[in-house]
Amino acid sequence: MTIMTGSRNIVILTGAGVSAESGIDTFRDAGGLWEKHRVEDVATPEAFARDPELVLRFYDMRRKAIQTKQPNAAHEALARLDREWDGDLLIVTQNVDDLHERAGARNVLHMHGTHLNAWCTACDVRSRWTGTLIERPPCPDCGEPALRPDVVWFGEMPYEMERIYTALRSADLFVSIGTSGAVYPAAGFVRDARNLGVETLELNLEPSQGSHWFDEARHGPASQIVPSWVDELLGG
Ligand code: OAD
Repeated sequence: MTIMTGSRNIVILTGAGVSAESGIDTFRDAGGLWEKHRVEDVATPEAFARDPELVLRFYDMRRKAIQTKQPNAAHEALARLDREWDGDLLIVTQNVDDLHERAGARNVLHMHGTHLNAWCTACDVRSRWTGTLIERPPCPDCGEPALRPDVVWFGEMPYEMERIYTALRSADLFVSIGTSGAVYPAAGFVRDARNLGVETLELNLEPSQGSHWFDEARHGPASQIVPSWVDELLGG
């Protein structure tokens, strides 16, 4: 008997590891984004105030790159679970790509925002955005040239925390996939889940920083271990 066979309501947290095999760089692995760029230069409100061109260019490049990538078997398996699971299911992703959605998942919450939105700091409206922001285009809603990436920077509050905690409170199972457990509040969800009596499972390439908090951990590439876990859960 595995820990998940009696589960009804599931909260899944995903991180960069779930998109790694689609060719999107992770942050903290060797050669990852934070080895090539300093967080303080590109991912804080202060960086944007100091050097907006540098920050906008960084996100323009990443926005362009993700649109050339395709979902992998891990995204596909989670989309299948989202379709076929008859309990509640919420995929909370730290990823700013749209590969969960492009694989067909519906119940996806982007707690760190999304590359494919621009956020107007003048009128507070978010607009779908696939092009560049470096040329300071006008906001489609109010016309002001005040758009920024709709990505949560360090020092800013992640989105929809209330909805996430509400889902955790009614969950039976919390699953963390492809995340290093380095960034809070997401890194704390496993302990929040445990305190709520929710069973916890880690699926990651290697033990994460918080691996010891999980009831069960399985290690390997997401494209393999996620589909086999989903098959198990849905009964083969
Ligand atoms: P990290 O780069 O910190 O961690 C990626 C995790 O994925 C590591 O634990 C890897 O071992 C694992 N991994 C790599 N390849 C994998 C594969 N093929 N299959 C399974 N696992 C794999 O990325 P995150 O944990 O997502 O935030 O980072 C969290 C946040 O830090 C990001 O959302 C971003 C970043 O700074 C913001 O920008 C606000």
